[in-house]
Amino acid sequence: MDDKVVTAIGTPNKALVMYWGKRNNRLNLPMNSSLSITLDESLNTRTSIVFSKKIKRDAIYVNGEKHDLEARAQNEKMMLSKRVIDRMRSLSGTKAKALIVSRNSFPTSTGLASSSSGAATLVFAASQALGLKASARELSILARQISGSGSRSLMGGFVKWTKGSKPDGSDSYAEQVASEKYWPEVMDIIAVFTASKKKVSSSEGHDLTLKQSKLYFLRPEYAEDRLEAMSDAIRARDFEPLAEMIMRDSNNMHATMLDTYPPIMYLDDRSREAIYAIHELNQSEGKNIAAYTFDAGPNAHVITLRKYKSKVMGMLGELIGDGKILAAGQGSGPRLLGESESLIDYRSLKPTE
Ligand code: PMV
Repeated sequence: MDDKVVTAIGTPNKALVMYWGKRNNRLNLPMNSSLSITLDESLNTRTSIVFSKKIKRDAIYVNGEKHDLEARAQNEKMMLSKRVIDRMRSLSGTKAKALIVSRNSFPTSTGLASSSSGAATLVFAASQALGLKASARELSILARQISGSGSRSLMGGFVKWTKGSKPDGSDSYAEQVASEKYWPEVMDIIAVFTASKKKVSSSEGHDLTLKQSKLYFLRPEYAEDRLEAMSDAIRARDFEPLAEMIMRDSNNMHATMLDTYPPIMYLDDRSREAIYAIHELNQSEGKNIAAYTFDAGPNAHVITLRKYKSKVMGMLGELIGDGKILAAGQGSGPRLLGESESLIDYRSLKPTE
């Protein structure tokens, strides 16, 4: 298993019932269960990894930037990645150090869920490089410990992450509700108003909202109920109620953020314009043909059906200015790539660029 370079590709997911607030910060255990769609490879993370005795220190390159995983001062995501890599290494019995090289095809830390595809692709690639016979559920638990939303990117289609109740998090993992083939018409059109990084990271946001918002206590139960109703709408392929519940969930989550003191405001004027424009579009159609939902950032995700794609793109086109519109269908979770796609040179065990 040592010296075997493995390359994988994985994708972000977009939550329809969002995860916000943790009952355990160290293990990323959520206050509520969540539901998402895994996006296709229009947005992707490519990750190469090798474990080798020739490597002296664990290191990860993310979009060309090197992070020494053994350095004392680490950003939080790096510390968590190191902990999960250590765990996987001990499960496999090797002591070899790791080189990881990862690239996102889309802007990072802007509310486009780059951390979900980063975490899921990393644990998937590491399990393959180490020859671990881990199930999707076990990988989901590992990915969750790097980035909560990452737990949902190991599977395709509609995915539910059950919050669980055990203190060790062994019952907090994701499972497929319906595969990407069940209702493939559902897609995500993303208006990227800005590619600049968010002011409050999602880790800080989870924590501050839970501690400071007086409204937050209402959210976990509300989210849990909505998740059941949304799963029913998905099983019935009933878009109208699904769309309303998606918008209500986003509004509810961002209301708790605004109620935090000092307030957390991920939405900006363009986000609000998109919200109004979608309500207008739905009204003029006489039914819900599109639903907005915002992660921890101002960029609008618009969940719609393929047959309405051009209408939604037209509407967003008028708002976007110098921004960019991305469109993604549903994907099937991480998969391996061939040697020619590697980001690590096989002979030197160094990044290819
Ligand atoms: O996984 P994190 O800590 O980046 O938090 C993600 C939070 C949201 O994107 C806002 C919602 C979600 O469920 O993905």
